[in-house]
Amino acid sequence: MRQAWFISFEGIDGAGKSTHSEGLAQWFKSRGHVVTLTREPGGTPLAEKFRALALHESMDPLTEALLMFAARREHLINVIEPALARGEVVLCDRFTDATFAYQGGGRGFDWDVLKALEKMVQKVPASSLRQPDLTICFDLPPSVAAERLSAARVPDKFESQPQSFFQSVREGYAKRMQEAPSRFVQIPADQSRDAVWSDVLKAIEKAYAK
Ligand code: TYD
Repeated sequence: MRQAWFISFEGIDGAGKSTHSEGLAQWFKSRGHVVTLTREPGGTPLAEKFRALALHESMDPLTEALLMFAARREHLINVIEPALARGEVVLCDRFTDATFAYQGGGRGFDWDVLKALEKMVQKVPASSLRQPDLTICFDLPPSVAAERLSAARVPDKFESQPQSFFQSVREGYAKRMQEAPSRFVQIPADQSRDAVWSDVLKAIEKAYAK
């Protein structure tokens, strides 16, 4: 049985990833794994402060990208790496692909600069470039996501962006998937919650069996 496992969940706002990451935490626990369920930006007290700034204050695009990576560094060093070293399953609601999709795709920030930051931030003693072992990306047309979000809570800075922004975010995710296809499983999120969950389990069981 494999031990340490780093899985991230991605998708545009409204794709429903949080429900499934929580479901998966229970799934792994029932199989005897110790699970760290966490999120980005955030996951440590300091990174949660960065999250509050990033989600609620308007700022220059470089500042925004740096803040996402600053939060990631804190999270990686203090939470993710120690959990992986203990042999735990780390389930992370968003990781670095979100920066490429939102700051790169959505905001139009320079992709190569993001790559340089990624190399710096995700270099840790155990790996020259820490990446998730598996990334589950929930794919949804922005028009459907917008309908779902309008029924939900008060939107944050990203959730209140127009559909065209989310179309660019979606394209950012697609570009990122093309760059590392073996790491990703893309799941259509425009179906019932049960059908999405069944796709998630299939993806996990396939990867788990390897
Ligand atoms: P989200 O993960 O959707 O959490 P919740 O479900 O509680 O709203 O919110 C995080 C927001 O931050 C989301 O809109 C995407 C954005 N984000 C970035 O822009 N860049 C990043 O690198 C990360 C991790 C998130």
